[in-house]
Amino acid sequence: LSSYPSYIDLLPSIQTCNITNLPENYFLKYYLYHALTWPQLSFVAVVRPRGGYKSSSTAGIAGNVSGEYPKVVGYVLAKMEEEPTDGMQHGHITSLSVMRTHRRLGIAERLMRMSQRAMAESHRAHFVSLHVRMSNVAALRLYRDTLGFEVEKVEAGYYADGEDAYAMRLNLQNMW
Ligand code: ACO
Repeated sequence: LSSYPSYIDLLPSIQTCNITNLPENYFLKYYLYHALTWPQLSFVAVVRPRGGYKSSSTAGIAGNVSGEYPKVVGYVLAKMEEEPTDGMQHGHITSLSVMRTHRRLGIAERLMRMSQRAMAESHRAHFVSLHVRMSNVAALRLYRDTLGFEVEKVEAGYYADGEDAYAMRLNLQNMW
């Protein structure tokens, strides 16, 4: 619980990263809901005044804070599906983004792998799911080619502007 105030302090920076990089945006309370309900699953990459970046779970940010708040340059916001229709425990990636200034450094891959591991180890998730725009070449490369996700189905008109989504998933049982 000692890290809780520090996470609140970082929320605006996480939200700024989201608003800068994606059209799918959320109220601050939705970030807080993720962190309070599944504190193991969401991670941030931060730059500190000295430079460099460090990945950290939302439950463990306090140790990184030394006076000045670090700036969030990447985050993965993740949860467990609360009422899985098939009864199978599984994780879900709500949102992932990395600031342009820090792309192609492996940050997104690392954030995703950390979240996937936590889903398997903390919640025995059978798989992790996500949605991605069909036009999002960079994210598709990351999910399909780097991380091994497979397309489960196309969800027509999933996004507010009418674009279709790929619903993708990755089996996690090999990480139990
Ligand atoms: N073009 C092609 N392949 C790419 C690209 C790109 N622009 N970016 C990443 N990849 C693939 C590559 O295979 C890459 O490996 P390589 O660099 O060895 O070739 C691999 O993904 C890993 O790349 P990372 O460096 O880990 O990715 P990065 O930290 O740059 O973040 C991300 C990728 C998150 C897609 C970033 O471009 C971004 O924030 N985009 C805007 C927001 C976004 O689209 N988020 C995902 C929406 S879907 C959702 O939230 C569930």
